[in-house]
Amino acid sequence: MSAPTAEQRIPDRHATAERLLKSSAKKSYAPSVDIDWDAPLPADKIWVPEHRVSLYGTELWDRMTPEQRVELGKHEACSVASVGLWFEVLLMQRLLKDFYAEDPTTPRAQYALTEVADECRHSQMFARMVHTAGVEPYGPQERIRQLGKLFSVISWGPAAYGSILVAEEVLDRLQREQAGDEAIQPLMRQVNKIHIMEEARHVSFARDEVTRGMAQLGPAEKAYQRFVIAYVSMMVVRSLINPKVYAAVGIDPAVGRRAALGNPHHREMIRWAGEKIMPFLDEAGLVGRPGMTWWRKSFLLGES
Ligand SMILES: [Fe+2]
Ligand SMILES: [Fe+2]
Repeated sequence: MSAPTAEQRIPDRHATAERLLKSSAKKSYAPSVDIDWDAPLPADKIWVPEHRVSLYGTELWDRMTPEQRVELGKHEACSVASVGLWFEVLLMQRLLKDFYAEDPTTPRAQYALTEVADECRHSQMFARMVHTAGVEPYGPQERIRQLGKLFSVISWGPAAYGSILVAEEVLDRLQREQAGDEAIQPLMRQVNKIHIMEEARHVSFARDEVTRGMAQLGPAEKAYQRFVIAYVSMMVVRSLINPKVYAAVGIDPAVGRRAALGNPHHREMIRWAGEKIMPFLDEAGLVGRPGMTWWRKSFLLGES
């Protein structure tokens, strides 16, 4: 018997969505009530483990006081949260466009809306966390925020869901490390725990979209998808730390940015954070020409 064609496998997308819908009905969070937003922030807790701060190990780091190191970690944690919610908003646009184009009664369409609902709550949660920390909601640099408007126009299918996976899995790796660390602020840990739990479903959904989508494309379209995912993923990873954070500890943003991008610890952190998702994307056929320049710039491959 011959292997089933991609068309014949389409019911699978609904099977995955059905399973995820059941899981969502069983376990979802409402951060507005599941987090104690009025709890005081203990002064002896940090926001990010020291070795995850972008300047860790640099000369600039050596010159900083312990207080400045904690402060920079807080600003970087809030930068990552505000960039995370920016990308969640782009993902919501993609999901809503997909929903708009299909039968709203199917499990896949129903799950797309469920994921939008999750991301709405997450974005509120991240914004509220940044506000509670008393930090500016940095988000990405303005040029990239403007470019983001094109995300749901130029990307669809595997490149869209693949770059969403990069964002979700990179954040997930960092958040898992912090959720179990008692030195971290309880608010940060609770936010991370909620996000980890709900993102596991999103990752299953997006992986399914990537695998199924790639099976349906011809060579030219696959090359386009490889270019788009590499470019968007590089933009996302490079945006996580807005250079403005360095000003919070008296460092010129351009100087801090240059030091972070040249910092082997920081590059290694990004490679480590992408360690789970990159082999999957590679196997799916999404890592290759003409996107390799962007992948290398992203540090996700562990090369400069
Ligand atoms: Fe999320
Ligand atoms: Fe998500």
